[in-house]
Amino acid sequence: MPTESPRPVTAWPTPALSFGGDYSPEQWPHETVLEDLALMREIGVNLVTLGVFSWVKHEPRDGQFDFSWLDGMLDLLHEAGIRVDLATPTASVPMWLHRLHPEMLPQDEFGHPLAPGGRNGFCPSSPVYRDFSLRIVEALATHVAGHPAVVMWHVGNELGGGNARCHCPVSNDHFRRWVQQRYGSVDALNEAWGMSFWGNSYSSFEEITTPSSRTAHNPGQLLDYERFSSDALLDQYLAEKAVLRRHTPDLPVTTNFMVGLGPDVVDYARWAPHMDIVANDHYTYGPDPLRHQELSFSGDRMRGISAGGPWMLMEHAAGAASWHAINQAKKPGELLRHALAHVARGSDSVMYFQWRASKSGTEQFHSAMLPHAGRTSRIFGDITALGGHLASLAEVAGSTVTGAQVALLHDNEAGWALKSGLKPTNQPVYADTIRAIHGSLFERAVTVDVLPAWSDLAGYKVVIVPGLFLVSAENARSVADFAEAGGTVVVTWFSGIVDERNTVITGGYPGAFRDLLGAWSEEFYPLTPEESVTLDNGWRGIRSSELVHTDGAEVIAGYSSGDVAGYPAVTRRALAGTGSAWYLSTDLDPASLGEFLDRVLGEAGVTPAARVSPGVEAVRRSSSTGSYLFLLNHAATDGWADATGVDLLTGTRHEARVPVPAGGVVVLREE
Ligand code: GLA
Ligand code: GLA
Repeated sequence: MPTESPRPVTAWPTPALSFGGDYSPEQWPHETVLEDLALMREIGVNLVTLGVFSWVKHEPRDGQFDFSWLDGMLDLLHEAGIRVDLATPTASVPMWLHRLHPEMLPQDEFGHPLAPGGRNGFCPSSPVYRDFSLRIVEALATHVAGHPAVVMWHVGNELGGGNARCHCPVSNDHFRRWVQQRYGSVDALNEAWGMSFWGNSYSSFEEITTPSSRTAHNPGQLLDYERFSSDALLDQYLAEKAVLRRHTPDLPVTTNFMVGLGPDVVDYARWAPHMDIVANDHYTYGPDPLRHQELSFSGDRMRGISAGGPWMLMEHAAGAASWHAINQAKKPGELLRHALAHVARGSDSVMYFQWRASKSGTEQFHSAMLPHAGRTSRIFGDITALGGHLASLAEVAGSTVTGAQVALLHDNEAGWALKSGLKPTNQPVYADTIRAIHGSLFERAVTVDVLPAWSDLAGYKVVIVPGLFLVSAENARSVADFAEAGGTVVVTWFSGIVDERNTVITGGYPGAFRDLLGAWSEEFYPLTPEESVTLDNGWRGIRSSELVHTDGAEVIAGYSSGDVAGYPAVTRRALAGTGSAWYLSTDLDPASLGEFLDRVLGEAGVTPAARVSPGVEAVRRSSSTGSYLFLLNHAATDGWADATGVDLLTGTRHEARVPVPAGGVVVLREE
């Protein structure tokens, strides 16, 4: 990996909150561009992402550079007072380059190359792609350095989107080198991957391949291939960043993540320290009735990987996407709620894909800030209103989300390990448990930080370890230290089962937490989607059960039906002082989970961001100068919150109780 120069002093790219989106003027005639700029000014757009797919525009033929179109656009945007997040155009390999070097296309697990014509059509390890991509980045950075419109860099686009796992010969070579560097000797590798199983031991690094089609590969190899693929893409990012840093040392550099529930295509939490601003693209799934909770999860996770934020919402949708079977439009009021929900959770920007809906191309039906219908549309009306609201919220910029007393631990590697190899349940979804717990906390208006598993836990009251299948000894130790220092820990089933090599920690599950919990299990009893088990206190367990024994813990509830009836289901070990360690050996249905969390939160003294009516989301951002309570009513009935202050969106002052109309948003400057 190229070495990084120190992070420059980077201010946020716009005054106050950033507002805008991806802008693709190369798709439109000049009159349309002039209309765009006038409309952008009218509604307060202050930042656009330019040139994401413009490689062939900048380099129409091999080695012939032409930045005249870009120069014109940068000047026009600058005159309009709109700042530019300039993309390196490396996501879209020009067709001339595909013709010259077809070998750079990524290959799938069957060895079939991707067809040219989409995007991210490159093998992440290809030295040919690396050379051509750095040549255009160098030329672009040299050309625009010093232009006043350009305020930040956007490297490529969604690195790994479509090309994250390559099995071409170049990737195989690179994987061999990566493995050799990680393990040093073949013996160490055989030991780490457990190659004696099925007599697969290697005698030389030359024998290693990427885990491609139709053979059952071992869990250690599969997990390392995920890590390798993430590292190969990070190398590309770092190589581009190094070029940009040389020419424009003061401009922040980022790339747009796709942080959702996880596991993601690359390991964003481990990439984040290489970003000057951590940026995310987030798209809701219309048919999911709890999509607002999924959105809040991604925001809480973004905060966790960006050292508390503020972070940047680089893309989301003004309406429907176009890649689902049925692409549902946003419901009335949802555009504003979704935009401000990201801000509530720590984003200092509201950006969209994209400014103007395209007429043609793959995403011709993807929604945009300015739809095909033009400015007399509901979406553009909502976008215009949003621009006004963001201006009213200017003073919120730079504040951070405060008041999180609960941390949920998350690790992409745990999700990768879970899907790498055969397991007791082979439809495991890494984030099911974490999402259920996060959702239940959301409904209690309890602020949660979703943290990388290696984070500092000091200051939290409760740390939850939900389905964290893989855990290192060091991270398990920090969870135990937290409980020993008086904190409350909740560990759920299928946490701490394997170590970093995807090797089972033996001696009773969950091996990494057995001593802390004072409880252990000997066998898994997974449940089908139709099955559930009752607990002797009336709770209901779903998805999984286990044959559990205690060894120092108190049994809070036992199984009263199913194959493990009579054995403990939920246990609690009291530690010295106020510390406690809970084990939840099954997932609880929503009602039971709510009762469980009420008890845990009550004992630990966790308080919500505000007392609210059902369906109202509450999150607080604060700075040295103000405290802002975001209240978003996702319910179809009018609601309320107990708080006092002035609604920045309307100027109305509320005393003691704030009405939050059905589907509405209030942002209170608290007194
Ligand atoms: C077969 C094989 C064994 C083992 C078991 C369990 O019986 O012969 O090697 O794989 O299935 O899957
Ligand atoms: C992603 C990409 C955009 C666009 C949108 C909408 O976020 O970065 O280029 O494709 O999705 O589909």
